[in-house]
Amino acid sequence: RCAQPGGQAPMNTLTLQRPDDWHVHLRDGAALAAVVKFTAQRFGRAIVMPNLKPAVTTAAAARAYRDRILAALPAGTRFEPLLTLYLTDATAPDEIDRAKAGGIVHGVKLYPAGATTHSDEGVTDISRTYRVLARMQELGMPLLVHGETANADVDVFDRETHFMEAQLRPLIERFPALRVVFEHITTADAVAFVAAARPGVAATITPQHLLHNRNAIFAGGIRPHYYCLPILKRERDRQALLGAATGGNPRFFLGTDSAPHERAAKQSACCCAGMFTAHAALELYAEAFESAGRLDRLEAFAGHFGADFYGLPRHEDKITLIKESWTPPETYDFGDGELVPYRAGEPVAWRLAGGCA
Ligand code: DOR
Ligand code: ZN
Repeated sequence: RCAQPGGQAPMNTLTLQRPDDWHVHLRDGAALAAVVKFTAQRFGRAIVMPNLKPAVTTAAAARAYRDRILAALPAGTRFEPLLTLYLTDATAPDEIDRAKAGGIVHGVKLYPAGATTHSDEGVTDISRTYRVLARMQELGMPLLVHGETANADVDVFDRETHFMEAQLRPLIERFPALRVVFEHITTADAVAFVAAARPGVAATITPQHLLHNRNAIFAGGIRPHYYCLPILKRERDRQALLGAATGGNPRFFLGTDSAPHERAAKQSACCCAGMFTAHAALELYAEAFESAGRLDRLEAFAGHFGADFYGLPRHEDKITLIKESWTPPETYDFGDGELVPYRAGEPVAWRLAGGCA
């Protein structure tokens, strides 16, 4: 609690060890410059997705991308981007050696080819990556999985469960020491799967999947700003995710999947998948945890479990949230265009404190 000047009653505040975002899209160029500050204001580190055009497929490309991220940070910001490699059918095991030796790559991302945004260079058949996965297992390099089948004949609401049973379960058995993060899980099935999996298997959970079910996409019309992949699911799935996130199980940790797209790409006849939440990321998780009466579990979900999984130290410094409503703007600048943030023009119940931590 932070005391207010003038001896008033303490504000309703929540002070946490500084958290990390274990799954974010920072983009590149002018878009990167527009969004990275939001993540850096809240999080000490972030696992940065490699689905740029062209994708970040080599240790050298990851180093160059890291330099661009650091250059885009506001002066004086302390933020450490944790890079990832984009796995392709052609990735060679020695690329993993180079990535490990360089010390800045913390995971390798598996996108089934065609499953989501910028996944066309992804993996067409997981068996083609077995030699690489074996090397990752040997070196302790985590595999970060977009867990959805790319088979367009499978119902879009079933693609996560389908992938989990047909691909992920056998993969986890074939490589029994491979560290695996099942990214942005969206179903009760995935919660049960991760909770019962062997050691070394974890999952990230986004704020939107804790706060909404699929009705949000169709409330009075089609709402493109609620379209992300994996798509929002049923209410019982949301309830299971909220139970997992707030349950104190270290296998579940924070990963926003904040994924900005220019307004025209979202408000389009063929809208891109992705929700931008970085401007209010921790605040939104606070709303979700408060709704479950478990604000006391937010610190570990946001700041402890992910760091422990990735073998990185927890942060020493703190961050404070205040229970005070604010309203995100209708748009933020986004390079040449504009970006419609999640909750544009609608209140967010918590805000970041400016310096009483
Ligand atoms: O909604 C999504 N957006 N899901 C993904 O997997 C990719 C992301 C993006 O890069 O826009
Ligand atoms: Zn993502």
